[in-house]
Amino acid sequence: MDMKNNPRFMLAVLFLSLFLKAHICHGADTISANQSLSGDQTIVSAGGIFEMGFHKPGNSSNYYICMWYKNIPVRTLVWVANREEPVSDRFSSELRISDGNLVLLNESKTPIWSTNVSSTTSSSVEAVLGDDGNLVLKDIGSNSPRTVWQSFDHPAHTWLPGSKIGYNNITKKNQRLISWKNNDDPAPGLFSLELEISTSSYIILWNRSQKYWSSGPWNEDTKIFDWVPEMNLNYIYDFEFVANENESYFKYSVKNNSPTSRFVMDVSGQIKQQNWMPANGWNLFWSQPRQQCEVYAFCGPYGTCNQKSLPFCNCLTGFEKESQNDWDLGDFSGGCKRKTKLQCGNNVSSVDHKGDKDKFLQMPGMSLPKQSVTVGSAAECESTCLNNCSCTAYALDNNDCLIWIGGFLDLKLSDDQSTGKTLYVRLAASELPSPKKNNGIVIGVVVGGAAGLAVLLGLIVFLILRQRKKALGPGKIVEGSLMAFDYRYLQNATKNFSERLGGGGFGSVFKGTLPDSTVIAVKQLESVSQGEKQFRTEVSTIGTIQHVNLVRLRGFCSEGTKRLLVYDYMSNGSLDSHIFRDKTSNILDWKSRYQIALGTARGLFYLHEKCRDCIIHCDIKPENILLDAEFCPKVADFGLAKLVGRDFSRVLTTMRGTRGYLAPEWISGVAITAKADVYSYGMMLFEFVSGRRNSEQSEDGKVTFFPGWAANIIIEGGDVLSLLDPSLERNADVQELTKVCRIACWCVQEDETRRPSMAQVVQILEGVMDVNLPPVPRALQVFVDNQENVIFYTDSSSTKSSQTRSNTSTASSQAKSTTSSVNSTS
Ligand SMILES: *[C@@H]1O[C@H](CO)[C@@H](O)[C@H](O)[C@H]1NC(C)=O
Ligand SMILES: *[C@@H]1O[C@H](CO)[C@@H](O)[C@H](O)[C@H]1NC(C)=O
Ligand SMILES: *[C@@H]1O[C@H](CO)[C@@H](O)[C@H](O)[C@H]1NC(C)=O
Ligand SMILES: *[C@@H]1O[C@H](CO)[C@@H](O)[C@H](O)[C@H]1NC(C)=O
Ligand SMILES: *[C@@H]1O[C@H](CO)[C@@H](O)[C@H](O)[C@H]1NC(C)=O
Ligand SMILES: *[C@@H]1O[C@H](CO)[C@@H](O)[C@H](O)[C@H]1NC(C)=O
Ligand SMILES: *[C@@H]1O[C@H](CO)[C@@H](O)[C@H](O)[C@H]1NC(C)=O
Ligand SMILES: *[C@@H]1O[C@H](CO)[C@@H](O)[C@H](O)[C@H]1NC(C)=O
Ligand SMILES: *[C@@H]1O[C@H](CO)[C@@H](O)[C@H](O)[C@H]1NC(C)=O
Repeated sequence: MDMKNNPRFMLAVLFLSLFLKAHICHGADTISANQSLSGDQTIVSAGGIFEMGFHKPGNSSNYYICMWYKNIPVRTLVWVANREEPVSDRFSSELRISDGNLVLLNESKTPIWSTNVSSTTSSSVEAVLGDDGNLVLKDIGSNSPRTVWQSFDHPAHTWLPGSKIGYNNITKKNQRLISWKNNDDPAPGLFSLELEISTSSYIILWNRSQKYWSSGPWNEDTKIFDWVPEMNLNYIYDFEFVANENESYFKYSVKNNSPTSRFVMDVSGQIKQQNWMPANGWNLFWSQPRQQCEVYAFCGPYGTCNQKSLPFCNCLTGFEKESQNDWDLGDFSGGCKRKTKLQCGNNVSSVDHKGDKDKFLQMPGMSLPKQSVTVGSAAECESTCLNNCSCTAYALDNNDCLIWIGGFLDLKLSDDQSTGKTLYVRLAASELPSPKKNNGIVIGVVVGGAAGLAVLLGLIVFLILRQRKKALGPGKIVEGSLMAFDYRYLQNATKNFSERLGGGGFGSVFKGTLPDSTVIAVKQLESVSQGEKQFRTEVSTIGTIQHVNLVRLRGFCSEGTKRLLVYDYMSNGSLDSHIFRDKTSNILDWKSRYQIALGTARGLFYLHEKCRDCIIHCDIKPENILLDAEFCPKVADFGLAKLVGRDFSRVLTTMRGTRGYLAPEWISGVAITAKADVYSYGMMLFEFVSGRRNSEQSEDGKVTFFPGWAANIIIEGGDVLSLLDPSLERNADVQELTKVCRIACWCVQEDETRRPSMAQVVQILEGVMDVNLPPVPRALQVFVDNQENVIFYTDSSSTKSSQTRSNTSTASSQAKSTTSSVNSTS
């Protein structure tokens, strides 16, 4: 009888092997000296938070020793031991204690990964998985157990709460968080986060060398990294930064009852903070760098990154993906390769080339890769590149000729059209869509064509200018992109300033029509203190600020003491007339309000962060948001605070901005930052929602203050639809509405460092980032507790303003007296 076919014998063997191998009972958190982990066995931390065992990530065919959250249904790995040394059969591989180390043996029992500590000789070590996600190798030989190794010191791509990432000045080791190679492969990828000791900043590096993001230095006062204001929104965390002679590190911990949180160095080259929401999975809380294309070389060699379209990465014309498979897995680092070899440097033996020279593909609007060499003259740039076989591209930059030798990385579309440059990429002639010609003729045509085009362009420009001159009448000079008008002319265009559109803090606005029937809005500035020259300088600066969500300045007039600005006319007027409806306008539905909120945020983001000098608007309110024919919002009146005088007093400034939208710091006397605009924007958001002014005085003289009331409902999880403008009849996307309300609450936080940046607001509204429940805005709380104390919402003269200021700076205890002083004068 064949023993092997005897079922009893088989069973006995099975039992024996189980007895010999599987000593780890389900639920144990420890691997002891006489135990091993194999197959589907796992260890689980004492509180059932983390689990560890063999696992195959994604669609990979390999197994790794991994650690994951036991209670999160989407298996999320937080640590991988053998990142670079996978095994293919988990049943014949094992993780065990050997010679005082935790060792992974592969199928042929060869150690392929080890904790590799030499200090222990004792065999009495054990590995314990903790509820914090730390796998600790302990020497329990002596009376006091000693940690000889811990996974927190060897992080993979996840930074768990409670673990330190930093520099150890005793071992001289700098820890790194390293991205996975791709979504299926935990091997170390190109992106890493580490502490830069010299600046006490965390930095993200490409290929361990090229820095493309920094957190900015730790700020002991604000307890955040200077360039990560998001940290202020994280009120579920505690932060700690330690720097002494032994070590420097940062650590975060999550407060009680907060969601599970993780911080990863992602395959995308961004660091991401995510919170687990049982209802909708991992929610992105914030990420940096904010834009995918800010990640250095994300699309690899000859790949182009376009922030404004998905997929972000594409190959240049004439190139194809180096590996479709890698791209599918989220690893673009291989980039692209040429479809056709270059002619230059190649032996021209193949018949079909017919000796065509290489050509250049013109790529306008690019942000140029850094690895360029500056050579020779601009006039000969093309031929310099053409004559050097290793030159792959050239570009002209301020009359410099830049060439790229041997390839380039980090090519992306410029996000600002006005600063984009044209890159000429060398391609084999056959890749360019032009008919085959003989060499000489091709060059001739190219050169001749270019010259012809230039002449033609010149002619067109000339004609346009002439046309404009004619249309605008005599005396119009073009200054930069701006027109200089003379006063008489504008007087005619506006029919002697007869049709008043409105008035702001800086002067009245009149409708006008140019002879070519272009409709314009003309603003008569009041009390401009500047001389003509300075005025022109400031105005031309404003003229260069162009964005789809900003009102475009067309021109100006400066004659004697008269100062006027000429803008595009916005046919749908200002937002206030639509949300606080006058009889003539229709109800703005929720979708439009949301789009207006987003557009306005984008405009402000541009002013705050994308212009050469940061511009603080100082006067954000519905009256300054104009709507064009398509209801696209355009922020008006930016840059004017500067025109009217740089150093006017704070009290005066307070008067300029409109009561009700003014951030508390205008009164408390600290420096004004872009966050003051964020506050005003938040106040305005409340009005988008409610369709009425934030503070209203009813007939019985009682002042109701909407934001305070709204904040309470939002924070207590009440019925957000009840906050909605009644005329919308509860027709709104609840998620969007909740989002807008939460943002509004964050924006009006008294402490400006807690307010989000406009960039974050844009990201949240775009759905790229989530927004947590806000804390109660303290300032609003005061209003709710003490309703008469509507300091910013009562009429005041300048003298009263300073009165109010001294009172408010000593908080709400004096609120009553402030109120009485305000009331007595109103
Ligand atoms: C494993 O070792 C522990 C202590 O080191 C001991 O108590 C236990 O009996 C051992 N188990 C086996 C199966 O040898
Ligand atoms: C695995 O592959 C399938 C089909 O190719 C795909 O739909 C799925 O998203 C992949 N899973 C992961 C985690 O990559
Ligand atoms: C185990 O690892 C060793 C060393 O890396 C290698 O030579 C051997 O082929 C591996 N065994 C199997 C079955 O993969
Ligand atoms: C362990 O450390 C020794 C010396 O410190 C080194 O040579 C060896 O490569 C290390 N082994 C592993 C698996 O890391
Ligand atoms: C990363 O740097 C190493 C040398 O430091 C180099 O050999 C390697 O090619 C680089 N990787 C890429 C993708 O450029
Ligand atoms: C690190 O240690 C060295 C001595 O090993 C000391 O000179 C140096 O100041 C320390 N660095 C810091 C940042 O404390
Ligand atoms: C640095 O390490 C030494 C030796 O372990 C210790 O005596 C000293 O207190 C440590 N310094 C700090 C600031 O922890
Ligand atoms: C060109 O071809 C010749 C002979 O066919 C060969 O010796 C030479 O190395 C080739 N040059 C290049 C750059 O391929
Ligand atoms: C190409 O240009 C680079 C940069 O100017 C130079 O270093 C290199 O020697 C040139 N190669 C040839 C073949 O001229």
